[in-house]
This record gives sequence, C-alpha cells and structure tokens, in this order.
Amino acid sequence: PKSFFFTRHGESMFNVQGKIGGDANLSPQGHTFATKLPELLAANLGPETRLTVWTSTLKRTMQTAAYLAWPQLQWKQLDELDSGFCDQLTYEEIEEKFPADFSERDQDKFNYRYHGGESYRDLVQRLEPVIMELERHHEPNHAILIVGHQAVLRAIYAYFLNYSLEELPYVKIPLHAVVKLTPKAYGCMEERYTVDV
Ligand code: G3H
Repeated sequence: PKSFFFTRHGESMFNVQGKIGGDANLSPQGHTFATKLPELLAANLGPETRLTVWTSTLKRTMQTAAYLAWPQLQWKQLDELDSGFCDQLTYEEIEEKFPADFSERDQDKFNYRYHGGESYRDLVQRLEPVIMELERHHEPNHAILIVGHQAVLRAIYAYFLNYSLEELPYVKIPLHAVVKLTPKAYGCMEERYTVDV
C-alpha cells in the first residue's frame, strides 16, 4: 500500500462532557481543528497530488472533513465502536450502573462486548474491508485521509504497526493530530503533525 493519513474527528461536544458514543456535533475547538486541517494537509502532502477523504457516517467526522476540497467517501464500517446500552453515558455512569461490566471490560478490553453493542474483536472484523482497500491502494500520487474515531483508528494503527490484540485497545490516538503512515517492506514509517486549536 501507499502512504495514508489519518486523524480523529475534532473534539466533539460529547468529548467535552466525557460521554461515549452518540452522534454529537463538534465543539468550538473541534471546529477550529476542522478549519485548520486543509492548510495542514496542503503543507504536508508531499509527492501526493490527489487526496481522497474517508469519513464515517457520524456527524463529527463529516464536520471535521467539511472544509476539505477533495472527494469524500462515507464508510459505515468506519463508525465508532458501538457501545450498546452504554451509548451516551460517561465512564463514571457506566461504572455506577454496570459495575460488573465495567470491571469485566478492564480485565479483557479486547474481547469485552458491550450489551447490544460491539467488542474490539467485532470492530477488527468489521474493519476488514477498509484495511483490504488500504492494502490494495497503490495508485501513485494519490493519498487517502481517514477522518475517524479513537477505537477504529486504534485498530487500523495496530494492524499496520503490528501491535498485539492485547495492546490494541490501549493505543493512544490523540485528538487534533494527523498521522501519516508509509508502509515499507518491513514496518511502517510514521510522521505526526499536531494542530494548535
Ligand atoms: O467508545 C469509544 C472510545 O473512543 C473508545 O474508548 O475503548 O478506551 O473506552 P475506550
């Protein structure tokens, strides 16, 4: 595969409130990130002259990509890990309402499946077509930018960087930073660009 870029959506109102899941709008800071993204990409595209933007179907990724003047594709497979009954709760609320689940997840975060939702293992399976498409992507001078979610980008990053399944749910994917991965015969070259919002 060729290089590809990825970033999380800009900070959302749910990020501000510490809630997971949902389909919130960007916060003012998240919106600032979205407005600065085109310039950051233009400055760091390198030899790539074309860009295709992949988002999820959730508002926060589409709002983050809204100022990018490149073709965009929405993937349902890129939607955030489905937290089922815990959707729209804070971690404190989850611990209070579902203490057994909270500790079960802590014991085995990769395999824990939210009631009515997904596990990281489910997510990895759901992302297979996305990863296949990234693997098949060989067009010269054409880069892909994924505007995604924390859990989803952990899975993609862990796949290309050969992290173990146990490590995958703990990979740190910061907000307001763009990562460029260039797969090599062995391993991956990584560049990071952060944005002040
Ligand atoms: O629910 C989605 C979060 O971005 C992932 O966070 O798996 O560390 O709880 P977590």
